[in-house]
This record gives sequence, C-alpha cells and structure tokens, in this order.
Amino acid sequence: MNLAVIGLQWGDEGKGKAINYLAPEYEVVVRYQGGHNAGHTIYHKGEKIILHLLPSGIFSPSTVSVIGNGVVVNPVKLTEEIKGVEKFGVNCNNLVLSSTAPLILPEHQQLDVVFENSRYIEIGTTRRGIGPAYEDLTGRRAVFTGDLFDKDRFYNKIKPLNEYYNKLIRTFNGKEIELESYIDEYIEYGKFLKEFTKNSIYLLNGFLKQGKKILFEGAQGVLLDINFGTFPFVTSSNPTVGGMFTGTGLPHKSLDTITGISKAYTTRVGGGPFPSELKGDTGEYLRKQGNEYGSTTGRPRRVGWLDLVALKYAVMVNGVDDIFLTKLDVLDELEEIEMVTGYQTDGDISTIFEPDHIYLDNVTPVLKKFRGWRSDTSGIKVYKDLPEEAKEYIRFIEEFSEIPVRAVSVGVSSEQTIKNCKE
Ligand code: GDP
Ligand code: IMO
Ligand code: MG
Repeated sequence: MNLAVIGLQWGDEGKGKAINYLAPEYEVVVRYQGGHNAGHTIYHKGEKIILHLLPSGIFSPSTVSVIGNGVVVNPVKLTEEIKGVEKFGVNCNNLVLSSTAPLILPEHQQLDVVFENSRYIEIGTTRRGIGPAYEDLTGRRAVFTGDLFDKDRFYNKIKPLNEYYNKLIRTFNGKEIELESYIDEYIEYGKFLKEFTKNSIYLLNGFLKQGKKILFEGAQGVLLDINFGTFPFVTSSNPTVGGMFTGTGLPHKSLDTITGISKAYTTRVGGGPFPSELKGDTGEYLRKQGNEYGSTTGRPRRVGWLDLVALKYAVMVNGVDDIFLTKLDVLDELEEIEMVTGYQTDGDISTIFEPDHIYLDNVTPVLKKFRGWRSDTSGIKVYKDLPEEAKEYIRFIEEFSEIPVRAVSVGVSSEQTIKNCKE
C-alpha cells in the first residue's frame, strides 16, 4: 500500500520525524515538490540532522530515496547535503535525482531577495529562490538538472536568461549576477551529481510495476499551498495531493492512503494570517517548550492553538485518511488547552475556512477549552497509558475532523511514537 505523508498546517508539523519513523516499511521515498526551503528534522543514532532536499528515508538503508521532477534543486546545496550526511555514515548510493527537476540558479535567489524587499506585502520567504525558480517553470524558461552535464548546452540555455534576470534585478536595485561567476562551479557540481541523476519518471513507474511500496514525502503544508493556502502568504508549489502526481509522474491510482501530519497546536514562520495565534505568555511558553525556531532559517515560529476549522479544510482538499499527531508532549504542563472550532464575524459563526488573508485577519476564533493533563507523556509507549484528558483532546480532534488519529508523537525520536491509537 503506497502512502503519502503531508503537512496539514503551515509546515514544520514533524514530517521528517514521521517519515523517518515510517520509512523502513517502504522501499521508495519520493519528494515531489518544494526545494531547500524545507527543513525536515530527524534524529539518527541520537544525532539531530536537518534535511532540506534529501528525502527523509535516506537513513533507512534499504530504501531508495528519490528527488522527483517537481522539486526545485539548488545543485550546490544538494551536493553539500549529500556530503554532509555521508559524514554520519549514510550511504547515498540509493539516492536518485530526477533529470527533469528545475534548477535554482543564483539569479533566482537574488530575485527572491529583491522581490521581498520591494513587494507591497512582505511574504517572509526563506529567500532560497524557490518562488522565482517555479516562476521560470510556468514561464517556460526553466533549466533542468539534466542540462548541467554539458557545458555548451548549459551555457546556451542560460545566457539569454541571465540577461533577462539581470534586467529585472536592476529594476529593483539588486546586485546583478555575472554568469561567468558561477557557470564553471555549476558544471563541477553537475559532475558530482551526474551519478545520481536518472529519468525518475520511468524509474518510479518501474518500481510501481514491480509492486514496491512507495511513500510520497510532502514538504511545507496544505496552508502554504499555492492554490489552496493563505495566498499570497504561501510557497510556490503544491504540497497538496495534485503535486504528488505532477511532481513524480506516478499515476493517481498509485496512491492508496494519505496521512496528514499535524502538531497538537499550530505554528507558522513568515507573514500571513493566523487566527489562533497566541501573542502573550502562553505563546512564549509554547515556543520555548516546543523549541519553535525555524529548521531552515532559524526564525522564531509564531505559535497558536490547534485550529480545527483549518485542519478540517486541509483534510477535505486532500482526502486525508488519518492523522499523525505530533508534539503532544509540548502541552504536558498546561492547565488549560484550547482549540478553534469556528470563526466569528459580525455575529455569525462559520466553520468554513476561506483561505483569504483579509477575511482570516478579521475573524475572531471560537475557542473550546480542554482541561490539561499536567503530566509527562514523553515516555508513554501505548495509547491506553495516556492521561484521560489527553485522550479526550485526541478524541475531539477525531470527532471534528471526521478521521482517525493513527499515531501520536510525544518526543523527537522514533521511539517516542504511540503507533496504535485504539484502546
Ligand atoms: P517538518 O518540516 O515537518 O519535518 O518539521 P521540522 O523538523 O521543521 O520541525 C518539527 C520540530 O519538532 C523538529 O525540531 C522535531 O525534532 C520536533 N518534533 C517532532 N515531533 C515531535 C514531538 O512529538 N515532540 C517534540 N517535543 N518535538 C517533536
Ligand atoms: P517544511 O517542509 C515552514 C514558508 C516561508 C514563507 C513561505 C514562502 O520544513 O515544513 P518560500 O521560501 O517557500 O517562497 O517561502 O513559506 N515556508 C515554510 N514554512 N516550513 C517549511 O517547510 C516552509 N517552506 C516555506 O517561511 O512564509
Ligand atoms: Mg520544517
């Protein structure tokens, strides 16, 4: 049975932890969108490792890790990451990089910075060049990993682009990028990446035919989706279900189950609406307790209560089958916990999530209070040992979202996972 694991919130739900935990059951793990804006934290033999481009199955020796055609790839960062994990004794022999993944060029990163500085709304991007690289794909200008292996081909494709980009960069008073400053370097990275690069579309379909078990690894989250998220405070790809197929070339029938990852509360990095945001002491407490600082940029994450209206929307637009609930332990000491069950505007209460930032900025969340459990859950291995108040909290999430919670995470390591949530 093939599985997709996606974030149901604004990213950083604990996808890395969940996928690393699930990966040994799968023969293939494939990233299908995003780029090195992602930061997926994994604990491997007690060491904390943050993956940005490598699939989170890379630590499972029998798993093939595929960077699909929907991922935007910075060859410098990917090379560094491969060399970085090799230091932990991880062998990347089982890594496959799609030959048709769009490249992130230095100009894209520069454009990301100048756009952020000049836009009427600051999105708070990771400034990794993700948006401009995807713009070049839909603008039909993109250059692909497969173009890196022949200097003439690469140069001829990129020369007119470089002129075009520099014109744009000049308009915004940014620093122009000389093509000569990186072309040889990129070709060298290409030489390193060549051995991993394959036609991933045929390869993945071959795995499918052989009946190999495939796990689709989402980056970011549903509320950051370019089509379904809180536009314009979104990323430039589809973490949602459609992205799995455009980003791999696998047919929709290849997917059996979707597990959505949600924190037991909510976080968001960067700008944008956040109806359940906590700005006072409780927010500060959760940020500290949950160590809520961005895995990619180190920025403090904004924190708030779990928003069930948003969660139910995320479940709906993806057909999510079950939930992997993370960071329950972060709530252990709270006397009272709240969840959003509706949005109030002008006396009306709605349970519809309109991904419209002006609307969401103006709603008042309807909050339901829960009694805290005031005890340490981080060592609990089986569901029945969870405090009754925690079970009540989980049951309410199931009731509201109308799907079961399949697993509960109570700490950073794989062992801190309660996998069967039935009494
Ligand atoms: P991802 O982008 O969805 O993979 O999530 P990140 O790795 O960016 O952020 C999740 C953070 O929460 C990481 O620091 C994880 O180590 C940590 N984490 C994951 N699950 C749990 C959990 O159940 N409890 C606690 N305390 N931390 C967790
Ligand atoms: P993972 O996979 C959390 C956010 C940025 C910004 C917006 C657009 O670790 O969950 P971008 O650089 O993508 O153009 O930025 O999206 N963002 C993330 N937030 N987790 C992520 O990835 C994110 N990737 C992008 O902070 O608000
Ligand atoms: Mg992250």
